[in-house]
Amino acid sequence: GAPVQVDVSKLEEGQQMTIAWQGKPVWIVRRTAQTINDLPKLNEQLVDPLSSVDQQPAYADNLYRSIKPEYLVLVGICTHLGCSPTYQPTSASDGDAQWYGGYVCPCHGSRFDLAGRVYKHYPAPTNLVVPPYHFKNNRVIVIG
Ligand code: FES
Repeated sequence: GAPVQVDVSKLEEGQQMTIAWQGKPVWIVRRTAQTINDLPKLNEQLVDPLSSVDQQPAYADNLYRSIKPEYLVLVGICTHLGCSPTYQPTSASDGDAQWYGGYVCPCHGSRFDLAGRVYKHYPAPTNLVVPPYHFKNNRVIVIG
């Protein structure tokens, strides 16, 4: 399929937008400074904190799983059986002191952090997929 251009200039901190790419939902999140700070604290709770399984392009093979820490780009499909997880960016909806926000899958409860890394003790085997993308300029991300 053709690459998709997305203007992210109106995305506010903490917001997510969803676009379609190759028939799949792709999420773009503008992470807050707090989220960026929290990501390194979660390693003990994650299946693959360093993303050693290749679920991202080489240029997103870092702690943030992204080109710029501020922008997360993920394919919005659970790596268990393909449902689309729900964005739950804050702890308020959950009541779990360990929860720093991320995604919860409605089908079997898998949880992911705000880098798409899967939490332990849930059925999803791997982190969410980061699609190929690049920044055309400061406002526009090209997916694909
Ligand atoms: Fe997401 Fe099963 S499809 S947990």
